[in-house]
Amino acid sequence: MKNQISLFVVAILLSHCTTSEKNNNAKPVALKSVYSDYFTMGMAVNYRLLNSADTSLVNYHFGSITAENCMKPEVLQPSEGVWNWEQADALVAYARANNLKIHGHCLVWHEQTPNWFFADGDKPASKELLFERMQNHITTLMHRYKDDVQSWDVVNEAVADVTDRIYREKDSPWFQITGSEFIAKAFEFANTANPNALLFYNDYNSASPEKRERIYTLLKTLVDSGVPIHGVGLQGHWSVYEPSEEDLRKAIEQFSSLGLQVRITELDVSMYLWEKERRDVLPDETISYTPEWQQKQDKQYEMIFRVCRENKDVVSGITLWGLADNNSWLNNYPAKGRKNYPLLFDENRQPKSCFYSITEFEKTP
Ligand code: GLA
Repeated sequence: MKNQISLFVVAILLSHCTTSEKNNNAKPVALKSVYSDYFTMGMAVNYRLLNSADTSLVNYHFGSITAENCMKPEVLQPSEGVWNWEQADALVAYARANNLKIHGHCLVWHEQTPNWFFADGDKPASKELLFERMQNHITTLMHRYKDDVQSWDVVNEAVADVTDRIYREKDSPWFQITGSEFIAKAFEFANTANPNALLFYNDYNSASPEKRERIYTLLKTLVDSGVPIHGVGLQGHWSVYEPSEEDLRKAIEQFSSLGLQVRITELDVSMYLWEKERRDVLPDETISYTPEWQQKQDKQYEMIFRVCRENKDVVSGITLWGLADNNSWLNNYPAKGRKNYPLLFDENRQPKSCFYSITEFEKTP
């Protein structure tokens, strides 16, 4: 009888463990196998991670990688004609050795692009000169990795955050010199450089209703005028507060109605509201990762992956923006030093309960 009672107590205790505790000692399933019937699972890799033991987790869980920084213009071509291939070559060699796909990021962006692109001596560059430089940058880069990089973010973040215009104008030197022409041009140059590559437009807040409409307007203009574009990247820098399921569904439906494939390209689920302009950590603001926050995050991850699974005919990939909570840009952005817990693995690289919230589901035919 005593034994029966203790067995009963053990059973009750076990049933109350969180999913992550339950699986703590077992090797977790590989994300890429769980999702093999749905879409490619990817991860952003930075140079530090590439040189760490964490690569074994990357190879185990993911089928595709994105360069977090080393394929951006400021790293690759810091001054005109001076190319710095070291980090990008290392990333490509790593992908080759481990049979990983690469999603290239990114060719044209208003940030992390050196000033020389936009200047001609003391004057702003002419449109012609800027297009010449753009074509040169795109062509050199895409030719070098034509056998390794299957898809590219061609233009990143060209749509305005404010509601009175479609395009990002004030803070984009691309826009200031060429108007919106640079967007189509970038896709045309990319398509000429490698007609086999899949070409994406990539942006943040792309599920929130107003920006979604503006992005849709841009994409429709491109598609209607025959610009070679194949997909749209929803960056997916989201939080426990947003997007709502309805907004995410609507974004996927609206963008795919243009015949474009959809990818979540930079997924993390922050504990804080999105506040791009915020820089200070407020007193007693820092969230500790309590069971309550954990549950909110589990729910949000569960919803995002469920909606994407249900749309697997148009969603071709989900890429996480980092591996584990110890190494995420959100620990320093937008407020420096504000601790965040946005990823699927904890500080010790153990799967969190949100990992199980996206891997334990009933597969549908
Ligand atoms: C944007 C860019 C990424 C990266 C993140 C922040 O989303 O597309 O390359 O810089 O911001 O890490």
